[in-house]
Amino acid sequence: MATPDPRPPRARLGVLISGRGSNMEALARAAAAPDYPAELAVVIANRADAAGLGVARALGLTAEVVPHVGMGGRAGFEAALQARLQAHGVGLVALAGFMRVLSGDFVRRWEGRMLNIHPSLLPAFPGLDTHARALAAGCRVHGATVHFVTPELDNGPIVAQACVEVHDDDTPETLAARVLAEEHRIYPEAVALLAAGRLSVHGRRVRRLPG
Ligand code: GRF
Repeated sequence: MATPDPRPPRARLGVLISGRGSNMEALARAAAAPDYPAELAVVIANRADAAGLGVARALGLTAEVVPHVGMGGRAGFEAALQARLQAHGVGLVALAGFMRVLSGDFVRRWEGRMLNIHPSLLPAFPGLDTHARALAAGCRVHGATVHFVTPELDNGPIVAQACVEVHDDDTPETLAARVLAEEHRIYPEAVALLAAGRLSVHGRRVRRLPG
C-alpha cells in the first residue's frame, strides 16, 4: 500500500502569458521544488506566436492558446479563458506579461486569487514603457511590483516589491534587464505566499502571516 503523503495538496496555478514567458519560466522552476506550495497546472497564451509556449512545453508543462481574436469579443475570449482554467482545476492565476486588459467581471471572479507582475515600483509608472519613463523622470531607483489584480489597471494591493539602482549610463534595455532579474526572484516568492495562504489583504495593505 502507498504511504499517504503528509504534505497539504499544492495549489493549482494557471499562468497567463502573451510573449517571452521568462516570468512563467521562473515560476515553473520554483514550482519544480517538491516543497513549493503551488504546481503549474497550465500555461495559457492569448497568441499562438508567444515564445513562452515553447519554453513551457520544453519544461514539460501543459501549454494552450486561447486566442483573443475571433472569439466573439472580450466576453467570448474571457468565457473561453475561464473554461480552460476550470478544465485544469486552476485555483490561482498569475499574469506574467499578459497583454490583455481583463474585464471587471473576470477580475472579480478571481478576486484575491490573481496576481500580476509589473515592471515598476507601483504606484509609480503604471502602464507601458516603464523603464524609459523612469529614466526620463530621473529616478535613481526603479524596480518591480507583484500585486493583486483589481479592475483598475496596475492598481491592486501590493504583495512584493524589489528595487534596483538606476545607473548614469542606463538605457531602457539595461535597466529592464536588471529589473527582470528581480522579477524572477520576487514573483515565485509572492505566489508561494499566496498559495500557502499567508497573505491577508486589509484595504490597500497586504500583511504576511507567519509560515
Ligand atoms: C515583464 O517585465 C513583466 O513585468 C511585464 O511584462 C514583462 C513580461 O516578460 N508585465 P516575460 O514574458 O515574463 O519574459
